[in-house]
Amino acid sequence: NSMLSWQRTAFHFQPEQNWMNDPNGPLFYKGYYHFFYQYNPNAAVWGDIVWGHAVSKDLIHWVHLPLAMVADQWYDSNGVWTGSATILPDGSIVMLYTGSTDKSVQVQNLAYPEDPNDPLLLKWVKFSGNPVLVPPPGILPKDFRDPTTAWKTSEGKWRITIGSKINRTGISLVYDTTDFKTYERLDTLLHAVPNTGMWECVDFYPVSKTDVNGLETSVNGPDVKHIVKASMDDTRIDHYAVGTYFDSNGTWIPDDPTIDVGISTSLRYDYGKFYASKTFYDQNKSRRILWGWISESDSEAADVQKGWSSLQGIPRTVVLDTKTGKNLVQWPVEEIKSLRLSSKKFDMEVSPGSMIPIDVGSAAQLDIEAEFEIKKESIDKILGNASVVAEAEEFSCQNSGGSTVRGALGPFGFSVLADEKLSEQTPIYFYVAKGKDSKLKTFFCTDTSRSSFANDVIKPIYGSVVPVLKGEKLTMRILVDHSIVEGFGQGGRTCITSRVYPTKAIYGAAKLFLFNNAIDATVTASFTVWQMNSAFIHPYSEDVVRA
Ligand code: FRU
Repeated sequence: NSMLSWQRTAFHFQPEQNWMNDPNGPLFYKGYYHFFYQYNPNAAVWGDIVWGHAVSKDLIHWVHLPLAMVADQWYDSNGVWTGSATILPDGSIVMLYTGSTDKSVQVQNLAYPEDPNDPLLLKWVKFSGNPVLVPPPGILPKDFRDPTTAWKTSEGKWRITIGSKINRTGISLVYDTTDFKTYERLDTLLHAVPNTGMWECVDFYPVSKTDVNGLETSVNGPDVKHIVKASMDDTRIDHYAVGTYFDSNGTWIPDDPTIDVGISTSLRYDYGKFYASKTFYDQNKSRRILWGWISESDSEAADVQKGWSSLQGIPRTVVLDTKTGKNLVQWPVEEIKSLRLSSKKFDMEVSPGSMIPIDVGSAAQLDIEAEFEIKKESIDKILGNASVVAEAEEFSCQNSGGSTVRGALGPFGFSVLADEKLSEQTPIYFYVAKGKDSKLKTFFCTDTSRSSFANDVIKPIYGSVVPVLKGEKLTMRILVDHSIVEGFGQGGRTCITSRVYPTKAIYGAAKLFLFNNAIDATVTASFTVWQMNSAFIHPYSEDVVRA
């Protein structure tokens, strides 16, 4: 539909049409990155789920391939659901996925490439002995799904975990195997958290305490922490926690139980829209890469009208923040830079209450890297003044009114996808607030409340606190791509993805503004804005792909 066609993105992964959800089985094989995904070939709404498939040499330029797996067996006739790949030491690939059976029971199935010599992995064979796992006693038939990538135990077996729940307690079951065909269930759980509900798409992987490289999934040792991530069925949030893994009994405990996986205080990969994510180890570049499903914020009717629904976020490298030791940092893969076209660099001092148009031409496809500093005089004035009330304890991006509410030291940042008159705009900003301890606390927010005149769109204010260490400037990176905005605060310590649906600020009418809505803070801003090329995702043809 041409009326809504501007909402299609230029460099985010999306199928040519219809519905997509979770990323599945990402891997690197014989020179190609493979991406599989939950896909409805028949409509722009969830249903009839099969595995879509695409390949890329750089995680940015994709070629669509034929469906990898369809619902053609009794054990997956109600859907070929989410799964993960494991690359064995000899280089061969094992795929485990959830099938929803003819009776809608969730079971785990094994599949492998028909021809290991085909770098495109076009054809997949399902194991004749499927299903390889059925819901164990005490687990309901619809609460057993999304197997992880396997990792090695110290005894040399393979181990996987599968999300579930018992009553309202979210859990992750653990199984050992040597051949991926028969499994032994451990009587312990990887982890369990009361009142979190069904854990979908559990992810489990090591991160280094010292090194900036990613770790292969089986790596363990004294310099290693382990991440547990679960996608919360009820809230649609991907929560993670940093903790310690015990190989002997397959359990994991969080470093800080007050921010355990899935409870309201726990960390999130992203404070906007980002769900059912999955990492994989990229042996090509020794990094761990995170994929996340970005659904729509408009109505189902609009999705049907435009003929498609959902994007994937730009893949992100993910590592432990070695400076804090407490959180992950996520950053768009370096390959995204190949789309950068012309750039403009700006250095300016922004006084309180300013809104400055930034002339970069059309601003519908951008990459922005920015550094901000509040002038020392402004900070001293606030911290040294006892009559300025502490507000950091009360402030939240969601509930403190958004970017129009002025504080002493914020908000300041960018308004993206804005029309000339600013009747539509999406501000992404820092809000710095004084706490009761007279220290500053920094929040990173995205306010979509004025992003669109459309009346069928949800327009939340997103965000969270972002750790800022002594001596650090405030930094943000923003990727803008027509109907998606991805914000990375402080090098990726806090990330916010939002879907926005401007009706005026489209194509050439989309503008960029810099603003400082603080009452007292003068801010210096130093930033570069790149126009971004399209990734020109190709339809499938043998010529394109074998070229
Ligand atoms: C998460 C999820 C998974 C399931 C798949 C079905 O979005 O519900 O738990 O395997 O989607 O499409």
